[in-house]
Amino acid sequence: MKKNIINTPDLTKAGQRKKNDVTTFDYVDLKDHDYYKDFFKGKTFFIRTYGCQANIRDEETMKGLLVEAGAIEGNDETSDIVIINTCAVRENAEEKADGELGNLKNIYYTKKKIITVLCGCMVEEPLVLDHILEKFPFLSVVFGTHEIKNCLELIYMAATSNETIVAVNSKPGEVIEGLPVHRNNRFKAYVNIMFGCDKFCTYCIVPYTRGKERSRKMEDILKECEELVSSGYQEIELLGQNVNAYGQDLKLGYDFSDLLEAVAKTGIPRLRFTTSHPWNFNERMIDIIAHYDNIMNWIHLPVQSGSDAILERMGRRYTKQEYLDLVKKMREKIPGLALSTDIIVGFPNESDEDFKETLDLVDQVQYDSAFTFIYSPRKGTPAAKMPDSISAEEKSTRFKELVAHLEKSISASSERMIGHTYKVLVDGVSKNNKEYLSGYTESNKLVHFKGGLDLIGKIIEVKILESHTYSLIGEVVDG
Ligand code: 5AD
Ligand code: SF4
Repeated sequence: MKKNIINTPDLTKAGQRKKNDVTTFDYVDLKDHDYYKDFFKGKTFFIRTYGCQANIRDEETMKGLLVEAGAIEGNDETSDIVIINTCAVRENAEEKADGELGNLKNIYYTKKKIITVLCGCMVEEPLVLDHILEKFPFLSVVFGTHEIKNCLELIYMAATSNETIVAVNSKPGEVIEGLPVHRNNRFKAYVNIMFGCDKFCTYCIVPYTRGKERSRKMEDILKECEELVSSGYQEIELLGQNVNAYGQDLKLGYDFSDLLEAVAKTGIPRLRFTTSHPWNFNERMIDIIAHYDNIMNWIHLPVQSGSDAILERMGRRYTKQEYLDLVKKMREKIPGLALSTDIIVGFPNESDEDFKETLDLVDQVQYDSAFTFIYSPRKGTPAAKMPDSISAEEKSTRFKELVAHLEKSISASSERMIGHTYKVLVDGVSKNNKEYLSGYTESNKLVHFKGGLDLIGKIIEVKILESHTYSLIGEVVDG
């Protein structure tokens, strides 16, 4: 197909930040979308999303725009419009999207009328985009993370021109308000509080794909939260790559602790937030988490490594001891605090001693859950140019050793729950066993239990009977 290149990605431009860059705002007028309604009315769409909560929330915005324009959510890739929303954080996320595009190619050539869309972080990488356009020339639209608000227009342009539209505008980005949302869950909601990231950890592609750290205004966030409370939502999860830096770019005199307190006061039964960067976590934030019962006693606090040398090369801006001190302070102030983390194994030239420091940190902290990753070089990031003499086998051995250490503390924290009763928000029928329901405790542990479908969406008391490493079995207390 002929290509209409509106713009292409440029990682250097994407990573540029000017000192004192102010956050700019764009308020969308939905009337501007009326023009596209005739085209979208009655068409089915399907979105497959990879990656983090930010991507899931982007999916919900695209669904909002499509539903508002009259399109109907379909069940699979045979829908009229198929959108693949991608992640670029590690190579295996890109491999998954590549596989999905191969699948889409077959569907496209048997059912030609399908409109195929590729969006999200992966297309922000220039070499990846070139490879995709060459390998999958049937794509109708390719757009980056900054173009979500324009997705109706881009899809319409592609469908009416028979060209591949490419719109990947690498830029620091703005805050866009007024976009509709079609949420995936009726009682748990994601609320963006900020976009982008300015931390530039040396291994990470996110500051390039998602742009500058920019916060929504507190009044706009609170309006969204209040609407969720009045429509019966039970849980809000505040989202940002770096929630503890919330508000710093706005210079309006408020920060994450103020926001957290204000959202807690809306009366939402459960409030969570992710992701926290240890560097920006201050004492007032800890006090507010400790003070409000509806702020859950769970903090996701990525450490990435336990070695000071590696932390420095990663650009994380804290030492192992500073991280441990922060954890100690949190544990002293927040009763029953559950901690989870992200750890990267095999960062360039990570020595055996460096790795042992990570094992030692993990043993000291005793995490309740964790995500572990083998380092994956991302083109355009500083770490991708660092020399690395550690073999893939060595990295894989270390990875297994780390998981074994983590599983000990994760299992122990689950075992300690046996015999005790916890509040659980019931999500729905268990994925693996239809006879059970499942939900999460306040400390974010997954629990399976038997009960009626009427419990879905409610917060109930569950007594823990049995523990496995990654889940618990319980029984409902008081019917
Ligand atoms: N390689 C491996 N893991 C990575 N992460 C981010 N970038 C990379 C990379 N290049 C991990 C970090 C981060 C999580 C979301 O993904 O641990 O916290
Ligand atoms: Fe990536 Fe670091 Fe920003 Fe997290 S804080 S998104 S790891 S650059």
